[in-house]
Amino acid sequence: MTASHRPPLKIGIAGLGRLGKRHAEQIALRTRGAELVSACSPVAAELGWARESLGVQTLHEDFAAFVRDPQLDAVVLVTPTSLHADQTIAALEAGKHVFVEKPLALNVEDCERVERVAARRPDLVAMVGFVRRFDPSYARAADDIAAGAIGRPFVVRSQTCDQNDPDGFFVRFAPTSGGIFMDCSVHDIDLARWLLGKPRATRAFASGTIALHEGLRPLGDVDNGMAIVEFEGGQRAVLYASRTFAHGHDTQTEIIGTAGQLLVGQGGARDRVVTSDANGVHRQSVADFFERFGIAFEREMQSFVACCRGEQAMSLELSDATQATRIGLAITRSLHSGQPEPV
Ligand code: NAI
Repeated sequence: MTASHRPPLKIGIAGLGRLGKRHAEQIALRTRGAELVSACSPVAAELGWARESLGVQTLHEDFAAFVRDPQLDAVVLVTPTSLHADQTIAALEAGKHVFVEKPLALNVEDCERVERVAARRPDLVAMVGFVRRFDPSYARAADDIAAGAIGRPFVVRSQTCDQNDPDGFFVRFAPTSGGIFMDCSVHDIDLARWLLGKPRATRAFASGTIALHEGLRPLGDVDNGMAIVEFEGGQRAVLYASRTFAHGHDTQTEIIGTAGQLLVGQGGARDRVVTSDANGVHRQSVADFFERFGIAFEREMQSFVACCRGEQAMSLELSDATQATRIGLAITRSLHSGQPEPV
């Protein structure tokens, strides 16, 4: 049967919050070969949204019932990070392909538990949402590096910076997110490993500060964090994450090699329009991660579906997610201890 004649992959989504709603729209409206048939959330209003906005017919408040639904081929998990590992395992044990948002888990043991269960089901796809790998600019940078464009890459300097949210969404979100490094820098950690050729991380050092959001202090978290990660072959990653940028979302990455350097996403500009007026010469900035990575989210979900349908090989391994968690935890330990920490 050709791809176009194969029945669509029947997907259920769990979690319909800030990102889950976007993924749900993506699957229902823009992903080829997929059908969004069910949704799960403990919040009745979110289920109502799925029914009203997307016509999803099967709605579950209970995850255990959701994941066992025999009509489902695959599940997409956009739930709080602290639930990812157990829900991924439950889905694999129920025989479903799984897409789970990053990070895979907040400790290495949970990541390894997921890896062990996935290894028993090689027929199922288990993919973690490191969306930047699907961004056209990062993908081109990776291809250029592989082709030798900047010689041997040895430093990745990468930042994930969000516009300040005066409502403090992420303060409420912090108890389940693992903190700024596990939540934001985990993307840069994955990028650094990917772009540097997956060297083994040995040591991490971090510092941080609270510029605006005192509510993070009792949680041991910061709203601005910096870290250095050392790798076995001498490569280094220099990371910065912020929740307090004034102008917008500003993710950018510099990869420095022996014969050149690449810059991805410099400046956080929304488009190519430059306005000159009495206030000077200025550009609009990207509002949030979804605006910056909208196309990448589309390509990511398309890739997941293609992998489940056997049309494409997986480009990301679960062990990549385990390593990202391992490094993120060492950085977080260093933030708390004030000392370099082994990875
Ligand atoms: P959120 O708090 O807005 O949404 C969480 C959702 O999970 C809510 O709909 C909630 O009702 C639902 N939920 C809670 N317990 C549940 C359960 N037991 N079963 C099913 N649903 C349950 O959080 P947000 O921002 O949408 O983040 C969700 C995940 O997505 C996090 O792991 C986060 O790290 C990740 N994320 C990834 C991003 C990326 O760039 N790839 C960006 C933003 C978030």
